[in-house]
Amino acid sequence: MKILVIAATGNVGTQIVGQLHASGHAVRAVTRDPAASAFPAGVEVVRGDLSEPGSIGACLGGVDAAFLLWPLHSGRHLPAVLDVIASRVGRVVFLGTGGVPDLGFEEQERLVHGCGVPSTVLRPSTFAVNTLWWADQIRAGDVVSGAFGKLPMTLIDEIDMAAVAVRALTEDGHSGATYTLTGPEILTQTEQVEVIGKALGRPLRWQELTRSQARARLLADPGFPDSFVDVLLDGYAQMLAGPPPTTTDTVERLTGRPAHTLHEWATRHAPDFT
Ligand SMILES: NC(=O)c1ccc[n+]([C@@H]2O[C@H](COP(=O)([O-])OP(=O)(O)OC[C@H]3O[C@@H](n4cnc5c(N)ncnc54)[C@H](OP(=O)(O)O)[C@@H]3O)[C@@H](O)[C@H]2O)c1
Repeated sequence: MKILVIAATGNVGTQIVGQLHASGHAVRAVTRDPAASAFPAGVEVVRGDLSEPGSIGACLGGVDAAFLLWPLHSGRHLPAVLDVIASRVGRVVFLGTGGVPDLGFEEQERLVHGCGVPSTVLRPSTFAVNTLWWADQIRAGDVVSGAFGKLPMTLIDEIDMAAVAVRALTEDGHSGATYTLTGPEILTQTEQVEVIGKALGRPLRWQELTRSQARARLLADPGFPDSFVDVLLDGYAQMLAGPPPTTTDTVERLTGRPAHTLHEWATRHAPDFT
């Protein structure tokens, strides 16, 4: 099979490209800047921009299945991108997002499952890779400061999301499904810091800030986009006010092995914290 991976340079896309390539599938990776990308030899790299649906159409020749996620702040172009994909490709796998204010998850799901070709929607929990936002603090000392330390999450490893996506892209039997994907454990942010500390062999601990202190800290952090500060803190406040998270066994059911723990994720990512 030849598989198109959109957002191929991101956390999830990089893993999907690597896993597909390692299992012998032909892969065409889409990025806005092919010259800046580094993929395994043999992966075809093309330019495409989701804000220009026609540019995605030009990437689709000879493709059997496409992976898509939506990194833009507006969902305005999603229907056009789905139309162009469904006109040329026989299967689409979509990773849903809570990050598009004008297009909620249910609407994304309705558009994807209504696009006219077999489709699968993945609904992931918070990514484990978000904890890399703490990397600068962890490099500087043993304290991670933030708000909502008691917020529980079911962090998911990008390897696990990619493994499910690869199954849905390459196997029959996933058409029409929406899979809720989580990690195997529920950990508060305070506990996440302690687990990362254990993986790094460091006595890391959480220091609680008020929301306004956390807001000021994030705004002063050159590595964190200012436009995302209130989105993140509002999202955390909503999560804390909502029902507590639960884990699903979807990763294990579909891939045959349990989802990775945060300790396993942090052990693999240890170089990113040093
Ligand atoms: N972080 C979380 O906790 C979480 C939870 C649930 C869902 N999500 C969703 O996951 C997605 C992010 O996935 P990720 O972490 O793998 O990505 P990422 O590491 O944030 O990278 C963003 C990717 O999107 C691509 N991209 C950005 N703008 C684009 C455009 N105009 N046209 C084509 N490609 C574009 C980038 O490709 P180039 O720069 O190479 O073009 C890059 O590959 C978002 O939709 C987010 O809402 C995240």
